[in-house]
Amino acid sequence: MALENTQVCLAAYPRGAATSDNFVLRQEPVPEIASGEVLVRNIYLSCDPYMRGRMSGGVGYAAGFSLGEPIPARVVGQIVQSRNPAFSEGDFVWDFLRWENFTRLKDVRALRKIDPTLGPISHAISVLGMPGRTAEVGMIDIAQVKAGETVFVSAATGAVGSVAGQLAKAAGARVIGSAGTDDKVRHCLENLRYDAVFNYRSEPPARALDRLCPEGIDVYFDNVGGETLDAVLARIKPFARIPVCGMISQYDGGGYPLRNAGNVVGKRAMMRGFIIYDHMQDFDTYPTRMAARMRRGEVRYFDDIVDDIENTPAALIGMLRGDNVGKRLVRISDDPTR
Ligand SMILES: NC(=O)c1ccc[n+]([C@@H]2O[C@H](COP(=O)([O-])OP(=O)(O)OC[C@H]3O[C@@H](n4cnc5c(N)ncnc54)[C@H](OP(=O)(O)O)[C@@H]3O)[C@@H](O)[C@H]2O)c1
Repeated sequence: MALENTQVCLAAYPRGAATSDNFVLRQEPVPEIASGEVLVRNIYLSCDPYMRGRMSGGVGYAAGFSLGEPIPARVVGQIVQSRNPAFSEGDFVWDFLRWENFTRLKDVRALRKIDPTLGPISHAISVLGMPGRTAEVGMIDIAQVKAGETVFVSAATGAVGSVAGQLAKAAGARVIGSAGTDDKVRHCLENLRYDAVFNYRSEPPARALDRLCPEGIDVYFDNVGGETLDAVLARIKPFARIPVCGMISQYDGGGYPLRNAGNVVGKRAMMRGFIIYDHMQDFDTYPTRMAARMRRGEVRYFDDIVDDIENTPAALIGMLRGDNVGKRLVRISDDPTR
């Protein structure tokens, strides 16, 4: 194959916020495959907040990315060559691959075929994949949200938050959200079924929560940590549940003192951090379950798609700053299903 394979590699570990200088593009020949292997033409590359944590030499809950290597990421693609009987040319697949145009896969055990009848193939790494399942684990399995409860979701329009809020609404809860722009606030109210939403950049979370849930909070789905989490801790009801999904406000460093953490004791609240990797048992049954919710109109979903592999670093940096509405993906080649 006489094509080039563009790869997006990590050039340097960021100090503070990631910048374009932390990435470099590299051209390689498209790899040849051997017996048992497949070649995937990558179509959608995922940009996720956890990537900021892995852009470091240290080891968090996952190992840091290697300098000079293509960034590992969830990818949706299509098999263009197969020397493995389990996969045929033309199959749509997803797996943990790399930010590059073509991936030679020697070990296909984790490669999953996508059922295109469930929705757009990009959904395999958004609402029907990791971010959607993360919302389900936090809101249903951990928080066990119930009808009549008051639920608050931060990063309410995002890949995870938008699903978490709608799952709570479908369970019969009153759902409050926070987001970083007035357009996002409108999007939550008009498209995502939130009952009330505030812009945390123009109104301090403590004041907004007093205004929107004066009776207190039963469930807080935490995506951001920091000032928002502290404001919630001061306003939880007895036996509140706080699934701690992420703390994106803290990923560039800093640290925010939680003055109200003692309230967890007095209110007999449950605060539980979780990582999706520990909840993969029924991942294969999840897409059908969520697709059924979407057909019933319980969950609407928005992929936020940026085009061209050269724009991948900017797409990630922008998402970390908040310029995405829904799941941030980069489309790097033609999606024949759209
Ligand atoms: N535990 C797990 O296994 C797991 C799995 C997936 C994701 N997560 C976590 O879930 C959270 C959401 O991830 P996602 O993939 O759905 O991303 P996302 O919400 O689609 O995108 C990130 C959003 O974070 C918000 N944000 C950025 N800086 C912020 C700040 N300083 N304060 C408050 N909000 C800020 C921005 O929205 P605004 O414009 O609204 O600020 C931005 O759009 C992240 O914390 C992520 O690490 C955890």
